[in-house]
Amino acid sequence: ARRTVRSTMGTDYTAHRLAVIGAGVMGTNISTLALGHGVPVTLVDLDDAVLAQARTTIRQKLRHAALVGALPDRPQAELTTTTSLADIADATSVVEAVVEIAETKYKVLAEASSLVRPGTTLISNTSCISIDEMAAHVARPEELVGTHFMNPSYMIKMVEVIRGSATSDAVLAGVGDLLTVLGRQSLVINDSTGFVINRLLHPLINTAAMLVQEGVASVEVVDGLLEGCLGHATGPLRTGDLIGLDNLVDSLQVLYERRGDESCKPCDLLLEKVREGHHGRKTGRGFYDYGKVAS
Ligand code: NAI
Repeated sequence: ARRTVRSTMGTDYTAHRLAVIGAGVMGTNISTLALGHGVPVTLVDLDDAVLAQARTTIRQKLRHAALVGALPDRPQAELTTTTSLADIADATSVVEAVVEIAETKYKVLAEASSLVRPGTTLISNTSCISIDEMAAHVARPEELVGTHFMNPSYMIKMVEVIRGSATSDAVLAGVGDLLTVLGRQSLVINDSTGFVINRLLHPLINTAAMLVQEGVASVEVVDGLLEGCLGHATGPLRTGDLIGLDNLVDSLQVLYERRGDESCKPCDLLLEKVREGHHGRKTGRGFYDYGKVAS
């Protein structure tokens, strides 16, 4: 008999198809989680080279997750990769994980919502951009919900879920159910640019970078103080490297422009690192040197 992945709401997730748009850090993380839990994935990006790299990354992440016992011991589901957004038409849920640039997200979500059947949940994995702002660009705002997965998503159990003003109860319950199937817990918040985590975390990382820029302390000392004195598992600058400094600057820009929060104006040191291509772990170098490209 065919193996099924049945959720507490009774949905058979082996018959589900999760479309993931954007095959970067988070798209590959979310795909890894779904595949490892038996949910088939269609992964979309703009070019074939990115998708080929994403296949390798997902294989590595699946291997690592299995090694540390972060995924169940079960056959992996099928991964389809494509550069054609039209291939998401048969998806049961869609996760948008493209760059943190509002106009790009609006465009992708508008196209995605016109391609899928009514009743298909549209999930935006955004760091900061308001769900209500995005809802203005989709065909059925009640079907849009936000998730804010952490990186690496198969290691971190909790997901921040964002309910837009128009998000329906059924869609909110459905996304909670999907996250449970993916072995995640979730906490739901109301919409607000930056949400809970990044309204707290992003100004912290920016200020940490500013302290280094001003010569108050070195990278290692800033992180060492937050880890040693405040019990943070990972210091802010190492966290920035893990997020990706390019993505961090885009998110800070959203917070600065939309909230007028001066502590979110990306500092010169961050901008310089991004200009030089030192984006953190994913490029092998950021505040720290990783020696090789890691994801
Ligand atoms: P990334 O830069 O690693 O990947 C983004 C991908 O989107 C790239 O491969 C790019 O080619 C693709 N893309 C851009 N426009 C596209 C389009 N029109 N159609 C299809 N693909 C397109 O970015 P990352 O870090 O994966 O971030 C994705 C989203 O997740 C962002 O909104 C980010 O703020 C959010 N996020 C990031 C976290 C992190 O730790 N990096 C954590 C939680 C959320």
